[in-house]
Amino acid sequence: MTHPRHFIDLWRLEAADLGLILEDAKARKAARRGWPQGRVDADAPARDRTLAMIFEKNSTRTRFSFDAAMRQLGGDVIISTAADMQLGRGESIEDTAKVLSRMVDAVMLRANRHEDVERLAYGSTVPVINGLSDKGHPCQILADIMTYEEHRGAIAGKSIAWVGDGNNVCSSFIHAAPLLGFKLAVACPPAYHPDLVDLARAAERGVTVQITDNPHAAVAGADCVITDTWVSMGDTDHDERLDAFEAYRVDAALMALAAPDAVFLHCLPAHRGEEVTDEVLDGPQSLVWDEAENRIHAQKAILAWCFGAIG
Ligand code: CP
Ligand code: NVA
Repeated sequence: MTHPRHFIDLWRLEAADLGLILEDAKARKAARRGWPQGRVDADAPARDRTLAMIFEKNSTRTRFSFDAAMRQLGGDVIISTAADMQLGRGESIEDTAKVLSRMVDAVMLRANRHEDVERLAYGSTVPVINGLSDKGHPCQILADIMTYEEHRGAIAGKSIAWVGDGNNVCSSFIHAAPLLGFKLAVACPPAYHPDLVDLARAAERGVTVQITDNPHAAVAGADCVITDTWVSMGDTDHDERLDAFEAYRVDAALMALAAPDAVFLHCLPAHRGEEVTDEVLDGPQSLVWDEAENRIHAQKAILAWCFGAIG
């Protein structure tokens, strides 16, 4: 049996595959410019294929972009919350994986626990995609890199500043840094620093992520400033977090320290007035709406790669 191509953590990918996925995403976007959203791409690489999507947490962008992506690739989707499945009544992930592998061609899971995405992949004979876990959001980072590169060219050698929580999205940026060769600085309160295993893995691969509790130091001269919510889905320490992150808001004064042509990214949903001000989110440096749109194009390339249509 050949192993299915899972898309779970960026650090497991070869740089060449990541490059192919990004190129495919850009090419697919360019090829359908001006088309209605429902028209199928000429090559229809997911024709006759079905993607199952399982959600343990809320989603707007991931849910709609994967659904739209599969339709544009000529395939179909089945969507469920985990709570509506027997998973919600205790059926094991492994048994669920065996059953779904007989019914669909790939499974996307948005999970509370990263371990559950890995368990699903371990038991599955079809590709499994991580649609966000507590440890990573790899699909998001593909859209982010694509967005940066379509506005500013290759991200290799650029300085990226992450401001705020060293969370799942931050982890996926750390995974991507050695593959794409960008510099990464993370400004966070010490209690909310990124995963140490991720930092060690990046260091082994030649990238030392700068960690600081000073947002000004991280953003100084940066080509791209990124933030995310201070309270992720599943976090229970809401009030402590709002206190801890108060000095980490991305506002116009902070953006002014970045390079003059710096861009701002945010995976969304944004908590306006918390991690970012309206002025920045809606301002000329913000690429967040392109970033949200690019979830569709990136998702399509990820799916095409999982189905073996590229790479
Ligand atoms: N950025 C992102 O994954 O958004 P959703 O939670 O809406 O899917
Ligand atoms: N860090 C956020 C990202 C949402 C897309 C969360 O996990 O809730």
